[in-house]
Amino acid sequence: MQDILASFIDMLKWPAKTAVAAALVIASNATEITPNFQYFQPNSTGIKFQNGYERVYIQPFGNHGMRIRASIMRDPTGNEWSALLDPPLEGPGGNNGLNHDITLPFQGNATIRNGNIVVSIDLGVLSFFRAEENGSTTLLTKEYTDTKAFVPRYYTQDFRSSSFQSQFDFASDPNEQFYGAGQQACCLDHSVNKKGQVVDLINFNSHVTLPVYMSDKGYLQYFNMPSQGRIEFGTFRTRHVASEATVVDYYFTTASPGDYDSLQQQFTAVTGRQPTPPDFILGYQQSKLRYFNQTQILDLAQRFHDEQVNVALIVVDFFAWKFQGDWSFNPEFWPDPAGMAATVKALTGAEMMVSLWPSMEGLSVNYLLTQEQGLLATTRDGTGISDSFAGVYTRLIDSTNPAAREFLWKRLNDSYYSAGIHNFWIDQADGGTLGEAFENNGQAITQIPYARAFSQYFIGTQEAAGKMYPWFHEQAINEGFSNLTGKDIDTQCEHMALTRSTFVGGQRFCSYLWSGDTESRFDVMLQQITVGVSVAASGISSWTLDIGGFSGLNVETDEGRELFVRWLSMGVFLPYMRVHGDRSCSITTNSTQQFANPCPNEPWSYGEANFVIIKKYIELRYQLKPYVKRLFELLQETGRTIMRPLYYDFSLSDAFVANGTQTNDPTIVHQFMMGPRLLVAPVGELGATTRDVYLPMLPEAIKDQGFTWTHWWSEREFQGGQLITIDAPLAEIPVFYLGSKSDILSGIL
Ligand SMILES: *[C@@H]1O[C@H](CO)[C@@H](O)[C@H](O)[C@H]1NC(C)=O
Ligand SMILES: *[C@@H]1O[C@H](CO)[C@@H](O)[C@H](O)[C@H]1NC(C)=O
Ligand SMILES: *[C@@H]1O[C@H](CO)[C@@H](O)[C@H](O)[C@H]1NC(C)=O
Ligand SMILES: *[C@@H]1O[C@H](CO)[C@@H](O)[C@H](O)[C@H]1NC(C)=O
Ligand SMILES: *[C@@H]1O[C@H](CO)[C@@H](O)[C@H](O)[C@H]1NC(C)=O
Ligand SMILES: *[C@@H]1O[C@H](CO)[C@@H](O)[C@H](O)[C@H]1NC(C)=O
Ligand SMILES: *[C@@H]1O[C@H](CO)[C@@H](O)[C@H](O)[C@H]1NC(C)=O
Repeated sequence: MQDILASFIDMLKWPAKTAVAAALVIASNATEITPNFQYFQPNSTGIKFQNGYERVYIQPFGNHGMRIRASIMRDPTGNEWSALLDPPLEGPGGNNGLNHDITLPFQGNATIRNGNIVVSIDLGVLSFFRAEENGSTTLLTKEYTDTKAFVPRYYTQDFRSSSFQSQFDFASDPNEQFYGAGQQACCLDHSVNKKGQVVDLINFNSHVTLPVYMSDKGYLQYFNMPSQGRIEFGTFRTRHVASEATVVDYYFTTASPGDYDSLQQQFTAVTGRQPTPPDFILGYQQSKLRYFNQTQILDLAQRFHDEQVNVALIVVDFFAWKFQGDWSFNPEFWPDPAGMAATVKALTGAEMMVSLWPSMEGLSVNYLLTQEQGLLATTRDGTGISDSFAGVYTRLIDSTNPAAREFLWKRLNDSYYSAGIHNFWIDQADGGTLGEAFENNGQAITQIPYARAFSQYFIGTQEAAGKMYPWFHEQAINEGFSNLTGKDIDTQCEHMALTRSTFVGGQRFCSYLWSGDTESRFDVMLQQITVGVSVAASGISSWTLDIGGFSGLNVETDEGRELFVRWLSMGVFLPYMRVHGDRSCSITTNSTQQFANPCPNEPWSYGEANFVIIKKYIELRYQLKPYVKRLFELLQETGRTIMRPLYYDFSLSDAFVANGTQTNDPTIVHQFMMGPRLLVAPVGELGATTRDVYLPMLPEAIKDQGFTWTHWWSEREFQGGQLITIDAPLAEIPVFYLGSKSDILSGIL
C-alpha cells in the first residue's frame, strides 16, 4: 500500500504537460473526498462500470481530459454523432473505441488519471479532481449526491425506441462561477457568469446555446451531444438534460484556476481549431437588407471606389432568388453575376458574399429532385412541411445527409462559386423551422420562436440531433471549398461562410457566427459584449454581429446615426467588422420584389460629419489588421480566445474583476479585451460625452514587462485597479492598450 501511494504521489508530480493515463483501484475514506489510491495500474485505457442495465465508460481523452459515456440496456455503438476529433489534435486517448482494461461491478471503486485530471468512481459515483503540483488533489465536482437526493444519472426511456431522456447532475458550490454556454439571445440577459440560470438547449434566431462551460474552479465540461434540452446552473448542482439520446457523452478537462487559455487549448484540441481566415475578411464588410438588383451593387462598388473607402466584402442578402430552394440568382434582377463580381473586384478589391436559406418551396426547380431523392427533412406526419415564409409552405434541405450536402454544394458552385462569388451566408438554418415564429399562426418573434420537435433528419430527430443542423450546413460549404480547391483548409481558409447558428466544433470550419437579428438599441449593443465573450468562452472566437443592430434604426434621425457610429466604433475591435441591418427611412419603393427595403446603410448614409468619423474608424480597422491577424494565428495554433471577458486576464490579479463577474456587474461585463493588449469600453448611452472605465489591476507578469494602461487617443497613462472617467467623443471610443502601440499595429505580441 505504501509503495502504491508513493508511486501515485510521484505521478502527481509529473510535469503538467506530460499527459499519461493511469489507474488504480482501492477503498477510499468515505468522509473525506479524495481520490481512492489502491491497485495502481499505469496507462489504463479506460474503465467500464457495469451497474445492472446501466454502463459507464471512463477513458482518457486529449491532454488532461477524460471522456465519459453512459448508456442503458446496450453499449453505445461508438458511431453516435460526435464533435470530438478522434484522435484529438493533441494528447492521448485517440482511436480507443470503447476499450478499457478495468471492469467494475456495482459497488466497485477505481481511480483513473490522465495528466492533471483524476477521476474516481466510488460506490457508483464519479468524482473529478485536479492533481496539483505539490502532490495534493483538489475536488472539482462530483456527481451530485446527498443523503436523500435524486440520483445523479437518471434515464427515462421511451419504450418505442432505444433512445431515452437523460438528466445528469453535478455538484456545484453556491459561489462557483460558470462561463460560456454559447450565445444567449437578446436582450435582458447580460450575463457572463451563468450561475443561477437555466439555459435552454434549442436553436433559434440569435439563440445558439452550447452545452459547454468553464468553471472558475478550473475545469471545463462539454456534453458531446446534439440533443435539445437544457442546462440548469442551480445553487448546489448543475444539471444537464437531453430530451433524446442513445448515449450520454461528456468530456471533462482541468487547468489551474484562472488559466482559461489552457482550458481552451485542451478543449479545442479535442473539438477543433479555427483555421485562419483569409486576410481580406478582416477588413470592412458591407451588408444591408437588401441590395435587390445588380445595378445597386455596381453603384455601391463605384461609390466605395469614388469615396476612397476600403471595403473587403459586399454582401447580397436573401430573396435574390426567384423561389426558395433555387440556390441561384433570379436572372431578372441579376442578369450577370460573374460580370458583377468581376466589376466589384476591379473597382474596390472586394469579394462578394451571397445568402442562402435552407428552405425549399414547391415551385423551386430543385423541389422534385430533392424530394424524390429523400434530401429534404421530413416530419413525423410525413409531409416535411415545417414552416411557412413569404406566403408559402416550406420544407428544409436535410443537410445532415451527405447526399444533400453534395446536392446543395453543386447548386452553390454552379450559381455562385463559378461566377466568382466565393463566400456564403448560411442564414435561417437554425434547424426545425426557419428559426423564427411561424408566420402563419400570427405569433410575433418575441413570443414562441421554437424549433418544432416533429422534424426528422437523416441523423435523427430534432430532439436528438437538432442542435447540429446548422453545423452540417457549415460542413457542406467547407467540404465544397475543400473539394473544389483541392486544398487542405484545416488550418487556413481562402473563403468564409457566415452563419447564424452553429454547434460545438463549428470552429473547425471556414465559418464565422454572427449574433442574428438584434435590435438597434444602446442597451442591446452593450448586451452584445456579454454575448460575444460567452461564445468565445465556448470555444468559438470567430464571431461578429450586425453593426447598428438589425432592426429599428432610422438612418435619418440623429439618435439612429449616433447609435450607428457608436456601434461601428465597437465593431472595429471585434474579430470581424461587419455592417448590416434592416434600416428604416422616408424613402419608399414600388419594387415588386419581396423585402426590397430601399433604405441606405452605407458609411456615407449617416450624415456628412459622421461620414468623416466612420471613415476614420474604417481606416483604424485596417491599421489594426496585423494585430487581428496575429490573434487569429494564435487562435489557430493554440485556441487562444480573441474577444476576452475581463475575468480571463484579471480575475486572479483583481478581486474587483472576480466579484464583478460573479454578479455580472455592468462595470465589468460591458468591457472586454480584444486580444491581450486592448481594453475596449464602448459607449452605450445616447448623448454621452464621457464614459466610466474600469482599468483592472495588472498581474505581476504583465507589470514586470513595464506595461501600464495607456489611453489610445491621448496617450495618457493610468495605473490599474481604478475606475476612471474618460472623454469619449463620437470619434474616440474608449480604448486602452498595454505595451507599445507600434508593436500592436505591427501585430507583434
Ligand atoms: C468501495 O468503497 C466503499 C467505501 O467507499 C466500500 O464500502 C466498498 O466495499 C468498496 N467496494 C469494493 C468492491 O471494494
Ligand atoms: C497544494 O497546492 C494547492 C493548489 O495550489 C493548494 O490549494 C494546497 O493548499 C497545497 N497544499 C499543500 C499541502 O501545500
Ligand atoms: C434596380 O434598383 C434601382 C433602385 O435602386 C432601380 O432604379 C432600377 O430600375 C432597378 N433595376 C432593375 C433592373 O430592377
Ligand atoms: C466532397 O468530396 C467527397 C469525396 O468525393 C464527397 O464524398 C463529398 O460528398 C463531397 N462534398 C461535397 C459537399 O460536395
Ligand atoms: C463547379 O463548377 C465548375 C465550373 O462550372 C465545374 O467545372 C465543376 O465541375 C463544379 N463542381 C461541382 C462539384 O459541382
Ligand atoms: C409608388 O406608387 C404609388 C402609387 O402607385 C405612387 O403614388 C408613388 O409615387 C410611387 N412611389 C415611387 C417612389 O415611385
Ligand atoms: C470581493 O468580494 C469579497 C467577498 O464578498 C469581499 O470580501 C471583497 O472585499 C471584495 N473585493 C473587492 C475588491 O470588491
